[in-house]
Amino acid sequence: MPIIKTINLSRTYSKKDIEVNALNSASIEIHEGEFVSIVGKSGSGKSTLMNLIGGLDTPTQGEIFFNGEKLNGMTRKQLALHRRFSVGMIFQSFNLIPTRNALENIKLPLILAGIPRNIQNKKAIELIEMVGLSGRHKHYPGELSGGESQRVAIARALANSPKVLLADEPTGNLDSVTSEEIIGHLSGLNRGKGLTVLMVTHDLETAEKVSDKIIQLADGKIVNILTK
Ligand SMILES: Nc1ncnc2c1ncn2[C@@H]1O[C@H](COP(=O)(O)OP(=O)(O)OP(=O)(O)O)[C@@H](O)[C@H]1O
Ligand SMILES: [Mg+2]
Repeated sequence: MPIIKTINLSRTYSKKDIEVNALNSASIEIHEGEFVSIVGKSGSGKSTLMNLIGGLDTPTQGEIFFNGEKLNGMTRKQLALHRRFSVGMIFQSFNLIPTRNALENIKLPLILAGIPRNIQNKKAIELIEMVGLSGRHKHYPGELSGGESQRVAIARALANSPKVLLADEPTGNLDSVTSEEIIGHLSGLNRGKGLTVLMVTHDLETAEKVSDKIIQLADGKIVNILTK
């Protein structure tokens, strides 16, 4: 059974009298342990697809299954649980909380999940060390480099041990050397720990290096799926 399956998934945005078919009948399957990249031009629907899978948005048509459970039709509460426990998300702009230090940012999902305090601390320290930032516990986001910020965001996304990591252009704000380092981290988590990764990227060359599957989007439609 695929961990993620979409069937004719569509998302239309209506603004006044303008309709945008951001995603148009997309059917995909992602299996546990796969590294899958989504590529396509700006506006092709990549973030729309990620946000639907992440439970941040709901489709106008079609179905999404996560681990066999249908996401569309879930109550708001069920969707909130999906976002908190089933998936971890990272973004181009890191989205760290500026008034919380690195360790506190990583701890936040554990606090929201109601994990006991002593376990929160232990887990957050484990996570910050996993991403190689043991000397940065007390640094605030403004005191971290872009690459370090994204590593904190990865650690935070993995705090509640999600089944899938969703990464929407995780290297979009990073230079090429730092980008490689972040992709290396994601690839390491995939190969070493079997983490399923779904990543949006503009960089086809990098996608080809690390992915088991590449999904190409154009104008909201899947135009090609390359499998290794
Ligand atoms: N909330 C929204 N309301 C109206 N239209 C939207 C909304 N979000 C996205 N769109 C439209 O849907 C289309 C797809 O947007 P999406 O963000 O999925 O593209 P993308 O492939 O992620 O692009 P980029 O590479 O620039 O991030 C775009 O044409 C966009 O204008
Ligand atoms: Mg996008």
